[in-house]
Amino acid sequence: TFVVTDSCIKCKYTDCVPVCPVDAFYEGENFLVIHPDICIDCGLCVPECPVEAIFQDSHLPESQQHYLQLNAELAEVWPNIIELKAPPEDAEEWTGVVNKLPLLVK
Ligand code: SF4
Ligand code: F3S
Repeated sequence: TFVVTDSCIKCKYTDCVPVCPVDAFYEGENFLVIHPDICIDCGLCVPECPVEAIFQDSHLPESQQHYLQLNAELAEVWPNIIELKAPPEDAEEWTGVVNKLPLLVK
């Protein structure tokens, strides 16, 4: 499976969403996750993300390991998202900021 990581938090550009052939993305208030049982490992979403938030589970950086479990958990409770939408107004201010996990709204 592919995994959405820290950089997405408060950026949520959603460019990853429309390219997914199996609609594997689920949406929270300030973050998206990928459902591991739905993702078919095509990799199409990776280059779409302007903040490089998406990694294959086997290539997750050490600092992002906890996002594997978090994607699986939140994909079970958040609604599916299938279309591009406008990012948060302050998305650019949060681009490049690291360790945003405490800001994640579950
Ligand atoms: Fe969708 Fe492919 Fe990205 Fe998985 S890797 S979330 S199937 S676009
Ligand atoms: Fe997040 Fe990047 Fe998609 S910021 S919503 S993973 S395009």
